[in-house]
Amino acid sequence: MRDCKVLCFAIALVLLCFHGGVNGEDPYRFFTWKVTYGDIYPLGVKQQGILINGQFPGPQIDAVTNDNLIISVFNGLREPFLISWNGIQQRRNSWQDGVYGTNCPIPPGRNFTYALQVKDQIGSYFYFPSFLFHKAAGGFGGIRIWSRPRIPVPFPPPAGDFTVLAGDWFKTNHYILRRLLEIGRNLPFPDGLLINGRGWNGYTFTVDPGKTYRFRISNVGLTTSINFRIQGHSLKLVEVEGSHTLQNTYSSLDIHLGQSYSVLVTADQPAKDYYIAVSSRFTTRVLTTTAILHYSNSQTGVSGPVPGGPTNQVAWSLDQARSIRWNLTASGPRPNPQGSYHYGMIKPSRTIMLANSAPYINGKQRYAVNGVSFVPPDTPLKLADYFKIPGVFNLGGIPSSPSGGNAYLQTAVMQANFREFVEIVFQNWENEVQSWHIDGHAFFVVGMDGGQWTPASRTRYNLRDTVARCTVQVYPRAWTAIYIALDNVGMWNIRSENWARQYLGQQFYLKVYTASNSWRDEYPIPRNALLCGRARGRHTRPL
Ligand SMILES: *[C@@H]1O[C@H](CO)[C@@H](O)[C@H](O)[C@H]1NC(C)=O
Ligand SMILES: *[C@@H]1O[C@H](CO)[C@@H](O)[C@H](O)[C@H]1NC(C)=O
Repeated sequence: MRDCKVLCFAIALVLLCFHGGVNGEDPYRFFTWKVTYGDIYPLGVKQQGILINGQFPGPQIDAVTNDNLIISVFNGLREPFLISWNGIQQRRNSWQDGVYGTNCPIPPGRNFTYALQVKDQIGSYFYFPSFLFHKAAGGFGGIRIWSRPRIPVPFPPPAGDFTVLAGDWFKTNHYILRRLLEIGRNLPFPDGLLINGRGWNGYTFTVDPGKTYRFRISNVGLTTSINFRIQGHSLKLVEVEGSHTLQNTYSSLDIHLGQSYSVLVTADQPAKDYYIAVSSRFTTRVLTTTAILHYSNSQTGVSGPVPGGPTNQVAWSLDQARSIRWNLTASGPRPNPQGSYHYGMIKPSRTIMLANSAPYINGKQRYAVNGVSFVPPDTPLKLADYFKIPGVFNLGGIPSSPSGGNAYLQTAVMQANFREFVEIVFQNWENEVQSWHIDGHAFFVVGMDGGQWTPASRTRYNLRDTVARCTVQVYPRAWTAIYIALDNVGMWNIRSENWARQYLGQQFYLKVYTASNSWRDEYPIPRNALLCGRARGRHTRPL
């Protein structure tokens, strides 16, 4: 009884503080996070890491579809800080997205409470610090969204559920890496790869013989695609960023920057320890690291060669990507089958083509989309838009197809109408694999192939059973096409997940616009929104 009173009071307080933004009928989960610097030694040398509640990687978030997550973040760094939620859609609520285009950074010594709802989502994602290249120092962690109890999951409950946060790592302090980029230099080659914050054989996953486990693997690195594999074991793919897949078996899996995959692994081999290997993809020098799959009855450590994987083979990766399909009869976050949404029957209202490039502007290395290299403004775009502050961004400042002119710097926002259904073609004329992420939405990867996209490329689209996801790769000198329903009003970041490219301008914002002022389409500005730049001193509510 007393517990209920305390809980009800807490909920009432929350509703009072954040009305709009969270749904009163769905359960709440509360988190308090203290963000600090701390010494970490992931590659054997001491580094300044960013810890959350003393942990690197940060604590795991577990939620069930539709849960409200109330996350209070206390910034104990000497720099402003922001956390973003890779793949969490923030329906009607770009106010909580935690990128610099929507949120003021949390000043040093201050706190901010995010109120998110994982509305209509399931699957595997991660959070990360989005500001000032902090991602190079840690501050990331896994997010698992479990299905509601009565929604069928298309595989038996696994005996365990492991999060694998893998990616490239630099021994250099994030501040120095950032300075290198700012003076127009490129990042050095990464020093190694990490699995859950540890280097070579630094992390152990313990399994019972005969049982099946789910591994949720995300590439949280800064610059390189990775390949994941387990010595002597096969990987049964079951989920990609919230989509339940056809359960194909793979010997290894390519995971591009910012992507998340779930595989089932059965401990069906003789009792010993096995290597879990991650290596870099499409790099001149191949970086590899390992973790350990330990059978609980094993008396024998890892032995034999670390299993090899593909390194520069593009065709292999493209074939694998095309084999990843939606299970049309399986449920997603709702009881009805995923295939009941016939994305292939909808005719896109227009085509946007986005081409990446690596221009030098004013003698400095920059990265651009359709010739526009994004520069962050002094005021978050969402706030400038809300308070109607002129001169912060340039609506329509980025063309919807490559123009061929000289690249330039711009705070560019593209506008689209709420409920538009759009075809986006990512065209990559560079020799480097790209990884693109769109906030606020999941999209259908209808096609990818080498060379130049043309309207004739549409004849080879998969209009039946491709997956819906939020991060997609584009191979070197190749294209990837997606269909996207712009069903989420707000200001949404479209970015390279290569963190140097993102930092130096390969990103922009998409304003999904409706003339309606209804809370059914977009929540009002949160009462606790931080106000900075030219929005400082404004009020989130009428006085
Ligand atoms: C969090 O910040 C707010 C101001 O944004 C302040 O009123 C509140 O006291 C802070 N909470 C704590 C526990 O410091
Ligand atoms: C698709 O999902 C259904 C559950 O709806 C499951 O029974 C079936 O095995 C899955 N098919 C494949 C090929 O993974």
